[in-house]
Amino acid sequence: MALKSSLQVIVSKPEEMTVSNSHFQQVSHRFAHLANKNPTAQPNAFGKLVRVAGGRLEVSGLRAGIGARCQIDRKGITPLNAEVIGFEGERLLLACEDATAGVVPGASVRVETISDQVPVGDALLGRIVDGAGRPLDRKPLVLDEGYPLRGKTLNPMDRSAISEPLDTGVRALNALLTVGIGQRIGLFAGSGVGKSTLLGMITRFSSADVVVVSLVGERGREVKEFVEDSLGKEGLKRAVVVATPADTSPLMRVSGCWRATAIAEYYRDQGLNVLLLMDSLTRFAQAQRELSLSAGEPPVSKGYTPSVFSLIPTLIERAGIVGRGSITAIYTVLVEGDDLQDPIADLARASLDGHVVLSRQMADAGVYPAIDIEKSVSRSMLQITEPKQQDQARIFRELYTTYEQNKDLISLGAYRQGSDNKIDSSIAYRESMMEFLRQPLDTPTDFESDLVALQSFADAVDAGSGSPTSSSVSPETMLVQS
Ligand SMILES: Nc1ncnc2c1ncn2[C@@H]1O[C@H](COP(=O)(O)OP(=O)(O)O)[C@@H](O)[C@H]1O
Ligand SMILES: [Mg+2]
Repeated sequence: MALKSSLQVIVSKPEEMTVSNSHFQQVSHRFAHLANKNPTAQPNAFGKLVRVAGGRLEVSGLRAGIGARCQIDRKGITPLNAEVIGFEGERLLLACEDATAGVVPGASVRVETISDQVPVGDALLGRIVDGAGRPLDRKPLVLDEGYPLRGKTLNPMDRSAISEPLDTGVRALNALLTVGIGQRIGLFAGSGVGKSTLLGMITRFSSADVVVVSLVGERGREVKEFVEDSLGKEGLKRAVVVATPADTSPLMRVSGCWRATAIAEYYRDQGLNVLLLMDSLTRFAQAQRELSLSAGEPPVSKGYTPSVFSLIPTLIERAGIVGRGSITAIYTVLVEGDDLQDPIADLARASLDGHVVLSRQMADAGVYPAIDIEKSVSRSMLQITEPKQQDQARIFRELYTTYEQNKDLISLGAYRQGSDNKIDSSIAYRESMMEFLRQPLDTPTDFESDLVALQSFADAVDAGSGSPTSSSVSPETMLVQS
């Protein structure tokens, strides 16, 4: 009843409304300066550091959203950069960019920026930056544009299908595991099998316009080696390197991957064909695991937290063809003890459009790049290659697989020549297959000549005495060959 009468007052006496409106304006004007002091909207809001536990910092009195960038005062040294990664009651949980040395209890913490824009610009070409975007090559870097660190959500309808091959400059990939422009590939191997070296070859040899390299969780020495030896002066000219070695904080390592992806998007949106190389996705997952464990997330599989499993697809989804430009991406995946059942390896295999597996046995035998053709697959190959190449690649793959499956028998001498046509051929062509796969570090190939080489391999098999065609090649293949 009371409500009804007050409503009537408002409706029946418009002059009172005018009064209350102007009163409201006065009040809001009086308090406007307080609204502007809203700490989430304005930088420089202050809080107090109340707890540090490992990489987890707890701050009271500060109001800022997840992702806000903060600075923590340190006596006599530059402030420590940190990012809000969660909260518990009134306390904000922060992860810091560098080591917490010099931080004291009660240190003042202020919100530096709530923007997540990564500075970008053409000046990045040829440069090496860290996870926070600071140049590591000791030269000034001026950038005038910004790109969102965690990307813009893309409408799936704006993506184009993969339709053209990318010349990687590596014969085994071009001929047998063709990579498409805009494709996302995983490079799987244990440590020391040649992942970084192969990435280096692709960086130098590929036909991409710009190469963005994200080196995550490597030893510092490896970063230097990659830049100086694998990339070299020529390679660096069209590359941007984001390096976050193992001794940097998990926040830096994770941010480095997002930053590299944002940089790739910047060049893609200029209509360029970008190659994004991330070495390694496993280290990204491990850094994200550290971050989210310290924010209190529960581990679910091999200590990995749910956010790891949701962020990897988000990161990977940012590659592809959008508009005139493209991001072709290669993510290396570390397979500990050559165990292909690792949860990150599993997720990567499911989320990516293909996987290239490196074989320790081949590396041990000195066959580099040690690409295991039996275990590798490019899911876009059928869309981007001619049927003739597909058939020739199938002949190669069948011979390769036959040998691998009977390797133990053959090497023990238990296989008797003549018992099986297919095995006989696989033995006969084993050496020429290895020769086909071998490629010196400093010698690029090109797509055309790789197809010619594949053709002559297939022709030799076709003409060979122990031809495998009768038992192992499908009728369509024979049709194409004849
Ligand atoms: N293409 C290659 N030619 C010759 N040696 C290679 C080649 N690729 C790798 N290696 C050898 O393997 C070692 C480890 O390679 P690397 O690329 O660092 O492995 P990963 O990144 O998988 O740990 C190199 O130091 C080198 O001795
Ligand atoms: Mg490596």
